[in-house]
Formats: sequence, C-alpha cells, structure tokens
Amino acid sequence: MCGIVGAVASRQVQGILLEGLKRLEYRGYDSAGMSVLSDEGRLNRQRAVGKVVALEEKLETAALKGHLGIAHTRWATHGRPTEQNAHPHQSGESLAVVHNGIIENYETLKAELEAQGYVFTSETDTEVVAHLLAREYNKSQDLLSAVQSAVIMLKGAYAIAVAHVGQPDQIIGARKGSPLVVGAGIGEAFLASDPLALLQVTDRFIYLQEGDVVRLSQEGMIEVFDYEGQSAERAITVFEHGDGAISKGNYRHFMLKEIHEQAQVVAATLEGRLGEGHVLPRAFGADAEALLDRVKHIQIVACGTSYHAGMVARYWIEKLAGLPTQVEVASEYRYRDVVVPDGTLFVTLSQSGETADTLAALRYAADKGGYLASLAICNVPGSTLVRESDLSLMTQAGPEIGVASTKAFTTQLVAMMLFTLALRRVRQGDDPIQHQIVNALRQLPQSIQQGLALDGAIEKLSSAFAEKHHALFLGRGTMFPIALEGALKLKEISYIHAEAYPAGELKHGPLALVDSEMPVIAVAPNDELLEKLKANLQEVRARGGELFVFADENVSLAESEGVHVLRLPAIDEYIAPIIYTLPLQLLSYHVAVLKGTDVDQPRNLAKSVTVE
Ligand code: F6R
Repeated sequence: MCGIVGAVASRQVQGILLEGLKRLEYRGYDSAGMSVLSDEGRLNRQRAVGKVVALEEKLETAALKGHLGIAHTRWATHGRPTEQNAHPHQSGESLAVVHNGIIENYETLKAELEAQGYVFTSETDTEVVAHLLAREYNKSQDLLSAVQSAVIMLKGAYAIAVAHVGQPDQIIGARKGSPLVVGAGIGEAFLASDPLALLQVTDRFIYLQEGDVVRLSQEGMIEVFDYEGQSAERAITVFEHGDGAISKGNYRHFMLKEIHEQAQVVAATLEGRLGEGHVLPRAFGADAEALLDRVKHIQIVACGTSYHAGMVARYWIEKLAGLPTQVEVASEYRYRDVVVPDGTLFVTLSQSGETADTLAALRYAADKGGYLASLAICNVPGSTLVRESDLSLMTQAGPEIGVASTKAFTTQLVAMMLFTLALRRVRQGDDPIQHQIVNALRQLPQSIQQGLALDGAIEKLSSAFAEKHHALFLGRGTMFPIALEGALKLKEISYIHAEAYPAGELKHGPLALVDSEMPVIAVAPNDELLEKLKANLQEVRARGGELFVFADENVSLAESEGVHVLRLPAIDEYIAPIIYTLPLQLLSYHVAVLKGTDVDQPRNLAKSVTVE
C-alpha cells in the first residue's frame, strides 16, 4: 500500500532510493517519484506514471544528484494515478513529503490551508500534509518540531518522510497506522516501509512504534521521539532472512519461486515446535500453557487469504480441541457490536502484521474488553500486530514478494495446526491423534515436494482455462476454504471471475451457472465427505459442466469425457488442506502466465493493505 524510501548518506542517494523503490514495488505500482536535495540546496524532483522502471527511464536522462532524498511508489487512494498525483508532494520549492496511508480529515485541513493561501495542485490527501508541514515549519524554523506539531492534527493513518531545504542535513520520518522502519548504516541512515527495500545497504533495523517521529541526520545519526515528543530508545534488530529472499533466483516470477519454497518454509515453521507426539507448549511463549487452559471460545479475525486460513482452523479447532470457534473478516468484525463469550481468546492471522482492518479489529477487541487475551499468527516479527498482541506465533515464510499470497498461507495453516494441537493437549494430555498429526507434520515438507511434482501436469491443464471468463471451485469441510482460496488466487492474477461454493450448496442456486463454458474445479481428498462430494460432481456433469478434480490417489474416480482427474499422494486427512492448496496455486499461476497478466503485481492490487 504505497512504498516509502528515504536516505541520508555521504554517497549519492539516487541509486539507493531507486533500488529501494524496485524492491517495494509489490506495495503499489501505479506511479513513482523521487526528490533529492542537491548540493546547491535545491529540492529536485522526478515523477512518472506506471511502474518504477518509468521513473528509472526519466532518471537516466535527468539524474537527481545529492546526498539526501525521499522516494515513493504509489497505490492510488485519493486521485487517479497521474504524474500530478504522484509523490513526493511539495509545498512551494522548499519542502517535499512522501506519504503512505490515508488522511481522513484532509477535506477540513485542505479548506483551512486554502483559506490561508496555500494552493493545491493534486487530488491527493498527501498534499495537505505537505502544506501543513510547511506552515508549521514557518512557525518554528525546525523540521522536527514542524512534523511533531503537524502529525497531531492528522486523523487517519500515515507513514511519512519529509525533507526541507532549510535543514539540508536531515530527513524526518513519522508513523501511525502505516509501517515505517529505520535502516542503520555505517555513517548513513535510511527509512523505508519495509526492511526489504534497504537490504542492499543494511541489515540493521529499528521498527518504529505507533506515534514515533524520527530524525535521520548526516553521519548516520538516528534520534527517535515517542508520541509525547520524548526521546525514546528503540532496539536495533538484525534482519535474518538475507538479501537472497528478494531475488527471483532461477524462477520466472516471485510467485512461482514462493510456491516452490513451501517445503522449506513449512519446515522452518515447524522447527523447534514439535516434541515426541505433541506440540511443545513453549512454542507460544512461557506463560501460554496456563492461558490456553482457560480458553473456552476462539474468535479468529483476518482478511483475504489469511481469513481462509482462519476458516480452515475453525474446522480443526472445533473437531480436535472441542472449542466453539468463530471466524470473521476484519472489516466486518471491527464495525459489529460483538458479544464476547466468557473465556474467549482473540486470534488474528496476518502475513504482514500491518493490515489496517486486522489491526483495527485487534484494537477494537482491546477497547471492548472481555477477551481473555490476544494471539497474533504473523510472518513479520516486530510488526504492529505482533507488538500489540499479548501472544504471538511467528510463521517462518520469509519475505513474500508476489502480491498473491502462497507460502504465507500454507505456513499460516501449519501455525494454526500447531495452535490446535496445543489447545487439544492442555485439555486432554497426549493421545494417538496428536501423535498421528505430529508425524504427518514431520512428513509435510516431503509431502509438499510430492504435491509440487504435479506442476507439469497442471501447466498442461491450464490451457483449458485461458479462454474462459468464469470458473467455479467446489470443496466440502476444510476443503471449502481451500476452494475459496483457489478461487481468490485465480481471480487475483488471471482476472478470471471465480467463485467458490461448499459443494453441497450447489443445488441451492449456483448450479444454474453450470454449462460447458463453466469449468468446475473440485478438491477431493479421501475423507468422510468424499461420497457426498462425488454426488455433487455428478450434478455438475449432468448439466454439461467440465470437471477438473484434484483427488487422492486412492479415491475411485474415473477419468471420462468432461472429467479430468489429477491424483495427489495419499495424505493424512488433517493435513490435506495444506497439500490441496498447492495444485490450486499452480493452476492459477499457469493460467495467468498463459493469459500474459502481470503475475507478481496484478492490476489494482497491492500487498500489505495498510489503508481501510
Ligand atoms: C491474497 C492476499 C490478500 C491478503 C490480505 C491480508 O493473495 O494476499 O488477500 O491475504 O490482504 O493480508 P495480511 O495477511 O498481510 O493481513
């Protein structure tokens, strides 16, 4: 949701900023821009519509020279993706700002600033921030004080980076509701929305907290102030995933690389968390066992793909731990008058830990009170969600660059299974079912490799979808959320309209859509609902629908005209949702490649949705 980079260094910063923007492009890619303060004290700016490469082309003919600069890649919220609306925004010739987030009171502030003579040239909410900062700077002649007094007036979410010609040795950053990290270099300092943007220059980061304001000065000086303006100590964390995580390696797309990384990241997520036939209680923190014992209900809240992981977990928790569980999308939960049953644990699932709706839901739950505690299942240590939750369990997916989530989802499922097993164990001690699932989890990386071996067969199958406009995904039980996830992947990256239904619901309406132009994809593991599913598939075939079934190798389901069956290795029924996700990811990937869409950066989307 927009990417910010800033740099103060003794070397030229254009290259650092440009590389940072390329690495942040997954956050937004409809326009990009950069302002660099020249040695003569001028703020020079370049902006371009489209991807970062368009900005790069401009910079090739008109480089921005200087040792201090800010840059931005945009995902439009206010105003179309035009050069005029691209960041950085300026107030006159002296101040430039880049912003991520949404300023909710921008109309009021704009009217106030216009009345004071400030002239607006864009349709963005960010330009309000530029003029507001300029006004405050004119009062104090100090950029830090100007930012501190301006942010108090902003309602909504922001991460900003600001430069002013009056103080050519510093950049000021501030965050509330949108992520911002400081990169600590040797004699130089950086800002970015995500550490990935800066891995080419440092692996040492400060994750700014809500309300923090930071001053980066020449020689790498970093000063953090909390929301009350007091100097604050913030720990430096070393980024452990290495810079390789953000290169495509030998893969054509990040998405394909991330699909093929799943065995490895699932193994990393399991590492140190499995005992002999049970999940180690310390996986959830020192005091977790006593807390899990008091849980009577579970409320899961998440968005998008993470929500689908929560839906699978509901089946698991109710069946294996016997606890009533509710799952809801965060954007609905946060505006509902929620009734909290006694002993409810509030669980959020988020890859980024910065999703605005999920964070708002967590804060709503905290304000409302009545919950036993909050647990975040998250992929980014130090993210806002993790910091604001009582407990956390980190997935170990590593950086996920493809906008369509793949390895983050399967590691979330693994984490939720660990959580389910921990809940079961505090209730009934060790038992054979836990033993069985723990063994299946240990085998999981290998099972994933076997599942991914279907890649070639799925690639062949994908041509049947490339010309279609619609597709229907069916599943039952835990496979219903997997069908939802398959449909989401297909629509996200191939732009084919896809719907998912619990197969038993077909006859209550959607069957009317089925004809020879509607491919129907079904996920058919060898479980207790298999026979019911087969009957539902007959209903499809009888209406001329072409069936593509991903089935367990032991399921008796014959190939025939209009019925294509792809066999998956036999797998423990509890772990099956993780394995059946894989062919659906591969299918959407290959269909998108055939259609020639932008697989890693599909239109209209961005990763990490930090606005409401
Ligand atoms: C889809 C996708 C999104 C995210 C959703 C939540 O492929 O990636 O649906 O899952 O925006 O994001 P996180 O998990 O970061 O909270």
